[in-house]
Amino acid sequence: MSNQKTIVTQEQIAHQYEYMQFISKMTAEKAQAYGHPLRAFTQTFGCQQNEADTQQIAGMLEEMGYEPADRAEDADVIVINTCAVREHAESRALGNVGALSHLKKARPDVTICLCGCMVQQEHIPEKIKKSYPQVDLVFGTHALWRFPELLYRSLTGDQRIFDTTGDASGYIAEGLPVLRDGGTKAWLSIMYGCNNFCTYCIVPYVRGRERSRASADIVRELEQLVSEGYKDITLLGQNVNSYGKDLEEQIDFSDLLEKLNAVSGDFLIRFMTSHPKDASHKLFDTMARCDKVAKQLHLPFQSGSDTILRRMNRGYTADHYRGLIAYAREKMPDITLSSDIIVGFPGETEEDFEQTRKLVEEVGFDMLFTFLYSKRSGTPAAKMEDDTPHAVKQARFERLLKTQDACVQARQDAYAGKRLRVLVDGHSKGTAYPLTARTEGGLLVCCAGDNLEIGTFAEVEIEKTSLRCLFGRSI
Ligand code: SAH
Ligand code: SF4
Ligand code: F3S
Repeated sequence: MSNQKTIVTQEQIAHQYEYMQFISKMTAEKAQAYGHPLRAFTQTFGCQQNEADTQQIAGMLEEMGYEPADRAEDADVIVINTCAVREHAESRALGNVGALSHLKKARPDVTICLCGCMVQQEHIPEKIKKSYPQVDLVFGTHALWRFPELLYRSLTGDQRIFDTTGDASGYIAEGLPVLRDGGTKAWLSIMYGCNNFCTYCIVPYVRGRERSRASADIVRELEQLVSEGYKDITLLGQNVNSYGKDLEEQIDFSDLLEKLNAVSGDFLIRFMTSHPKDASHKLFDTMARCDKVAKQLHLPFQSGSDTILRRMNRGYTADHYRGLIAYAREKMPDITLSSDIIVGFPGETEEDFEQTRKLVEEVGFDMLFTFLYSKRSGTPAAKMEDDTPHAVKQARFERLLKTQDACVQARQDAYAGKRLRVLVDGHSKGTAYPLTARTEGGLLVCCAGDNLEIGTFAEVEIEKTSLRCLFGRSI
């Protein structure tokens, strides 16, 4: 099924550039009349993939003559990029859109756009039509590349525009502009969509089928990023270990890492997310061998109970997961490990939960992202019996946080006195350690000392630690 993806043709992309030019003329005329440039405000509610999409939208807006605005109040176009992964993400986005109704009343000429994963769900467009009249343009993840055309239609007509259709097998669009923030870090999407259908998860329904970008396009984009001075580059995909399965080219994710590692320059490559069912020994061997590939692995296990894992349709057991961690640590003793966990999946018993908690203790993660299960309509888990009271789930959640904080603190403490190579990437809030940096493993370090410069690598010695941060001085 995955090879049915649609590659957007260069002609179609050129067509979008024509729309960008039309709008650019319109914004130039208006800017002259107003005496200041037109501005666009973007806001992101989702994951890194969602952020990467926003950067593409921002790139198109820049091409259309809009300058970035810091606040919605100052903007002529507002784009809210939504997430659907948990109810909380949806209600935050909808709350923000609700708050924009005043702005729209005061300035009817502002264009409010809503896009991303949330609007790609079947029931959402109707809800926006009825209850959020301030929204002018709604477009789903599959219509992202058509944003210039849709915005043009919105600006030149008096209809509200909804485009949440599109082929669920998904699109690959190359050659659209991207506006990154110009720091040291950059996202680089290598694939889109997901085929795994974990029973709790909405992502496969709103992001379409798994599809990989051609490796030549990825290499070219990496070279571009490196030449622009980016040093900390994260490859993105919902399951990067499936990279290449849909390509005619004979290539897998490990082969891609080798290719990217061969690009010249001083930079680090990270990637997320890996799926335990597809993470292979070959991948860990490759990571260990490639000097530019950070020794960092985000490998979500979700639950330590085999019964729950089966009901989640995750395709591995807790023991398989343990085996992967052991192999990765054997090849890369200093590797930084992180994971996602869901607490309170339908039918989770006290025993199931204990198995999750024990796995956390056993592995000793450097970072953990724990979520309370959120029911997503349309997913198989939404139909499973869920008789655990919310208070019980909440109590488990808090117990797990305690365990995880103790484990993370122990891992952090173990860095005291160690010398680490870090990439200095910004200013901290404190004065004693005024700069921030990341270790190769992705840990946050606040640092102090002479000859530290943002955008360069440095050696620091860790002087003290806290739960979220290491504190180091340059050597
Ligand atoms: N593709 C990635 C994860 C994407 S979503 C992977 O498979 O690892 C990020 C995290 O959100 C998931 O790992 C999971 O822990 C959490 N998540 C997804 N759906 C959820 C739901 N319905 N309720 C609670 N957490 C959820
Ligand atoms: Fe969701 Fe599972 Fe796909 Fe991750 S692998 S995006 S959790 S369905
Ligand atoms: Fe990401 Fe949320 Fe969509 S986690 S893929 S923005 S549903």
